[in-house]
Amino acid sequence: MAIFSMIAISFIGLTANAHTVAEQPQVVLTDLAAAKAVGGFILSEDEELGVATVYLNADQINLLSSLNHSQGKCAGFEVLNKEDSAQPGKVLRDLSQTHQRISFFKSALAPQINFNEDYQKLIDQASALELKKTVSWLASYHSRYHQSANPNQHVHDLKVKLNSWLRNAPWSYTIETIAHDSTKQLSLRLRIPGQRSPHEVVVLGGHLDSINKPDIDKPADPKARAPGTDDNASGSSNLIEALKLLKQVKSFDRTLEFYWYAGEEGGLLGSAEIAKEANANKRKIIGVLQLDMTLFAGSGQQVIGSISDFTSPGLRDLFYQINDLYIKSKVIESKCGYACSDHVSWHRQGYPAIMPTEASFKSMNKFIHTDLDLILPSSNFDHSNNFTKYATLFALVLGNSSIVIE
Ligand code: BES
Ligand code: ZN
Repeated sequence: MAIFSMIAISFIGLTANAHTVAEQPQVVLTDLAAAKAVGGFILSEDEELGVATVYLNADQINLLSSLNHSQGKCAGFEVLNKEDSAQPGKVLRDLSQTHQRISFFKSALAPQINFNEDYQKLIDQASALELKKTVSWLASYHSRYHQSANPNQHVHDLKVKLNSWLRNAPWSYTIETIAHDSTKQLSLRLRIPGQRSPHEVVVLGGHLDSINKPDIDKPADPKARAPGTDDNASGSSNLIEALKLLKQVKSFDRTLEFYWYAGEEGGLLGSAEIAKEANANKRKIIGVLQLDMTLFAGSGQQVIGSISDFTSPGLRDLFYQINDLYIKSKVIESKCGYACSDHVSWHRQGYPAIMPTEASFKSMNKFIHTDLDLILPSSNFDHSNNFTKYATLFALVLGNSSIVIE
C-alpha cells in the first residue's frame, strides 16, 4: 500500500504543473475489467467488488468513455480528487465498507431511481414480529418435501390464508395453484393485474418446499421432519408480508406475480416449468426477484449477499440503488457457483433475475436440509425483515415505473 501511495503522490505532482488538467494523467475509480481493457496502470483493485483505482492518461480516459458508450452504457467512472488519489487503497476500502453504489463504477447500469417518501413510509411498517408468526406457521408442517405423503397440504392452506389476509385489498387479484409434469407438488401464483401496462410483468418468488437431506450422497428421506425454516419458510414469508404491506397501494402500472415454487429442492422443478412456459408464451417479464434464505445474518448485522452468477448485472445494479436509498445494508456480491435456486430457471429463459440473500455464500446457514433448520437463537427476524422491505420496494420500483433492464 505504501508503494501505491508514493506513486500516486508523484503523479499528482505532475498534474499540478500541467496547463490543462483534462489532458494530464488522472487517477480514476472504475470497473476493474474496463481499467485493464484500456491498459491503465492499476493502483489498487478489489476483485470481489470488481472495481479499481487506475492511473490513466487522457487517451485512455477517452477510450474508457467510448468503451462504455459503445456498449450502450454510461461513463461509469470517477476522476478522483487530490486527496483520494494519494490513497487509492483507502478509496476502495471505504467503498466496500460504506453503502455507496459500487455498480456505478462498474459498466452495467440500470436507470437511476430517486427516493420516494411514500415508499419509505410503507416499508417502515414491515413487522419482524408478524414475519416470525408466518415463518413459525410454515415451519410447523412436518415437512414440505415434494415427495412426501402429503406434498400439497401447506400449498392449499397458504392459498386460503392469502385470501383471508388480502380480503380488503384495494386491487383485484387472482390466485391459483399450478400443476407440474416433473412433480406432484403444486406451485402457487398470485397475480395482481397492472392498470397501465398489464402485459409487462414483475415477478417475485421463492420456493415453498423443504427437504431433509443432510448427506449430499444419500437420497432424501421422504418421511423425515423437514422444517425448512431458513430454507425457505423465510423467503416465502417475506413475500407474504410484502403483499400485506402492498395492500396500502391503490394500484400498480404493471402486473405483479408472486410465486411460491414447488420442488426446488428436487432440482428447481416448479420454477423451471413456469419460466419455460413464460418464455414459450413470449411473456414480457421485466424482472425477477428470488428470495431464498433470509433469516441467518452469517456475514453480520446489516450485511447481505447478492448472488452474482446466473443473475442480471443491470437488475443487481437496480437492487444496489434500492438498498442505498432505503435499507443501507452492506451488500457483498457472491457466487453460488452452481444452479443453487429458482432465479436460475428464469435466467436460463433469458429473463433478468436477482437473488439477494442472508449472507455471502460461504457464510450461509449450515443447518439447512436437516431437522435442525428451526427457529434458533441465531435466527434474526430483524435481518429477515429487511427482505420483506426489499420485496416491497422491488414491486413498487419496477411495478410502478417504465424502467426496463437491458
Ligand atoms: N437455499 C438453497 C440454496 C443455497 C444454499 C443458496 C446455500 C445459498 C447457500 C436451495 O434451497 C438449495 O438447497 N439448492 C440446492 C440445489 C437445487 C438445484 C437442488 C443446493 O444448493 O444444493
Ligand atoms: Zn435448500
